[in-house]
Amino acid sequence: MRILILVAGLLPLLFVQAGARGLDLHALWDDRCAECHGHSAEFARKYLTITGGLLQGRHHKLDLHKFLQHHYPPAGEVDAIYQMLLAQTSTPPRFSPECGNCHGNAAEFLRNSMILKDGELKILKSGDSLQPFLQNHRDLTRDDIDFYMGLFTRLAREIYRP
Ligand code: HEC
Ligand code: HEC
Repeated sequence: MRILILVAGLLPLLFVQAGARGLDLHALWDDRCAECHGHSAEFARKYLTITGGLLQGRHHKLDLHKFLQHHYPPAGEVDAIYQMLLAQTSTPPRFSPECGNCHGNAAEFLRNSMILKDGELKILKSGDSLQPFLQNHRDLTRDDIDFYMGLFTRLAREIYRP
């Protein structure tokens, strides 16, 4: 509950300061979509599919992008939200079962622990690069590390909007 109040309090600031850089898409979702649709990646995996590279809903098939233009996303962010949902729909739900017990929600974890510097993901506390850290964390294999580097890089772009 405390977190909710905090996030709600921060959002007006976020929206004002974001300017041309674009909004934190996960904060935007939590603020404007979550009350009806819940967690964004869970919603995407449950209700959306990809056909021929296009995102489709259960009701809105080929017109999903158009539907979104008249739904809740702010006008300038329809494309970004669409791309986020597209990526989430095709990403297996690994973070929550494999890391979530210790690190909670993925977007929240990223905001609190990682930064994107010159296009490279770094650990906020130490400033170290993420990749070598992961090589020594939790016995992750090379494939696991590729997967998580891909996931965190996308999340960072959605959150920090460089
Ligand atoms: C007040 C409730 C509400 C809010 C807020 C809301 N939606 Fe929806 N959304 C709905 C309902 C109801 C439908 C189903 C409408 C339909 O199928 O015609 C829907 C459908 C959708 C679909 C298509 C699903 C499908 O299966 O065809 C997408 C994608 C979507 N919403 C995204 C969003 C996004 C992104 C936001 C926030 C920016 C948002 N919604 C905010 C109620 C809401
Ligand atoms: C059993 C608990 C546990 C699990 C499960 C776990 N971690 Fe961690 N993780 C930690 C602890 C404790 C730290 C901080 C201490 C350290 O540096 O190792 C940490 C630190 C991190 C950091 C550095 C961020 C920071 O602020 O220190 C990253 C990135 C990270 N973990 C990623 C992952 C990923 C990805 C997974 C899932 C594949 C995962 N962790 C699973 C316990 C866990």
